[in-house]
Amino acid sequence: MKSYVILISGRGSNMQALIAAQLPGRCAAVISNRPDAAGLAWAAARGVPTAVVDHKAFASRAAFDAALAAEIERHAPDLVLLAGFMRVLGQDFVKRFDGRMLNIHPSLLPSFPGLHTHAAALAAGVKIHGCTVHFVTPSLDCGPIVVQAAVPVLPGDSEAALAARVLAQEHVVYAQAARWFLEGRIAVIDGHVQLAGAANADGALRVPLD
Ligand code: GRF
Repeated sequence: MKSYVILISGRGSNMQALIAAQLPGRCAAVISNRPDAAGLAWAAARGVPTAVVDHKAFASRAAFDAALAAEIERHAPDLVLLAGFMRVLGQDFVKRFDGRMLNIHPSLLPSFPGLHTHAAALAAGVKIHGCTVHFVTPSLDCGPIVVQAAVPVLPGDSEAALAARVLAQEHVVYAQAARWFLEGRIAVIDGHVQLAGAANADGALRVPLD
């Protein structure tokens, strides 16, 4: 059976959604860079092995990356899922897991990479916002896109309200993307993801609807 490892830094709601989705693979471990990440207790309570690689305990970024990579490799996972993992990973780390590491980002990439995506979307006045699951490559928030979900930006939206609307979709598409990967349906061809056996959906998303 295939296996996956989830990396978190905090709350871990995406991690919970991934584990709850009963993916066709075993969750070999949940690893956090922060000992106080709330998600660790949730995973441990469900019998999922947890580990902490505390970035504050390392003198350099490279030393942290090496320790994190070693902890992941102990489990020999087929897939590494970054789920609210808030450390930028170095080139060597990213190359080591090339083609088998996914991230969830709370915007419709390539719009709004980096932090504070919901505030940026509100400031830009976009009518459609969303989230993206993508392969991790050395440039931040730039790898091949697996799947995106769009949500409307509603009049009077606060950053928190918009974030909650996006987060609900993150939970859906991240589990979907992980499932596709573990089923062997994802190929990256010329830097673009192709999904084997996908229905040719041609529905349009329009916001606002009149
Ligand atoms: C999510 O919005 C994720 O996209 C972003 O950080 C948040 C983490 O939330 N990178 P959680 O820890 O999964 O609840």
